[in-house]
Parts: sequence; structure tokens; C-alpha cells
Amino acid sequence: MGRKCIISVLYAILIAGIAMPVVPAIDKRPVAVDRWFKKLPHAKEKLTKLHFFFHDVVSGKNTTVVRVAESKATAKSPTVFGAVFVMDDPLTEGPEPDSKIVGRAQGIYSPASMEEICFLMTLNFVFTNGQYNGSSLSVVGHNAIFNKYREMPILGGSGHFRLARGIATAKTYLISDSGNAIVEYNVMVLHY
Ligand SMILES: *[C@@H]1O[C@H](CO)[C@@H](O)[C@H](O)[C@H]1NC(C)=O
Ligand SMILES: *[C@@H]1O[C@H](CO)[C@@H](O)[C@H](O)[C@H]1NC(C)=O
Repeated sequence: MGRKCIISVLYAILIAGIAMPVVPAIDKRPVAVDRWFKKLPHAKEKLTKLHFFFHDVVSGKNTTVVRVAESKATAKSPTVFGAVFVMDDPLTEGPEPDSKIVGRAQGIYSPASMEEICFLMTLNFVFTNGQYNGSSLSVVGHNAIFNKYREMPILGGSGHFRLARGIATAKTYLISDSGNAIVEYNVMVLHY
């Protein structure tokens, strides 16, 4: 390789390095997961805090939630007991619906109380942007939607969040007349 060629290769590497801040992709091959577990005894647990807004669009053109089932008794239930909804709700940086999307909340929620309106939530926060792109967190929790703060356990995660555990707190930011909800989430998660 001539000197000129080496210089131009170095130059290309330099430019590429500057132009694309490289986010290391997560190696999801079994061999990589195996290697990750082998290093685990020496890994230090860390706390990561996440903050985003969840948009549950139940009416209008771009609904993000569908009602997939209900019992015969649901129509008569003041708490909508027995209905089942599936959502694919955008998660955004700010509260505005057109704010930058950082991921999706994909899962199921179901009014599960006969006495108050509260939901069983089973969902994944699926991150699609930035350093957590390709990672997810799994939540199962009790969501009393009319309480100011709701706390839901994070039971696990994938990618950057392997073996995660933590807490997600939800606080309603806005509910429109048509029932569309914007919910603020603060997530504290321990992982390696
Ligand atoms: C629905 O989504 C389309 C495409 O993203 C967007 O242009 C439009 O403004 C949205 N409509 C509403 C009512 O949010
Ligand atoms: C997130 O990762 C996927 C899969 O690796 C990639 O196709 C996509 O461009 C990434 N998105 C962003 C915003 O970096």
C-alpha cells in the first residue's frame, strides 16, 4: 500500500469516526449472551434513570390501542371489569405528541378490579433510539389510573438491561375529552 493510500484510509476512518457517533450494537447471539454471563461475577450493578412520556391514543385517526376482548358482564360493569386492550403506544422525550420518539410501550392492559378503575399492565418498553435502541424493559404492575402516582415493578429486561429490576412510576400528564392519555413515566432501573 502506498503512503498516499494509507493516508486516505486513515482520513476515511477519521471522518467516519467524527461523522457517526458509534453506538455499540448489542450482540444478541447466544455465544455473546454466554460471554456476558461469564463476566457477570465481576460486573458492577448500576442505576439508570429514564424519563419519557407515553401516548395512549384511544380515539381519532391514529389510534394506538385496540380493545380485543371483554366478558358479557363488562358492559354493565362501572369499572369496565373484564375488557382487554392491546397497545403499541409511542414513548416520547417530551409531552407533545410530535416530540421525538424514543420507543414504544407494547403490551396488554386490562381493567382487573370490580371496585375501582384500575388496570393490570403487562408490557414491554421497547427502545428504538439512542444508546438503548434495541433494548427493552418488561413491566407487570397494578395501575390505579386515577391515583396521582402509580408504581409498577420492572421485572426484567434485554440488551443493555439484561437482568434488570426496578420501578416505573406513572403520573397522568393530560387526558383529552376523547380519552386519549399522555402519561409521564420515571423509571429507575438496576442493571449491569
Ligand atoms: C396521524 O398520523 C399521520 C402520519 O403520521 C399524521 O400526519 C397525522 O397528523 C396524524 N393525525 C392525528 C389526528 O394525529
Ligand atoms: C435502531 O436499531 C435498528 C436495528 O439495529 C436500526 O435499524 C435503526 O436505524 C436504529 N435506530 C436509530 C434511531 O438509531
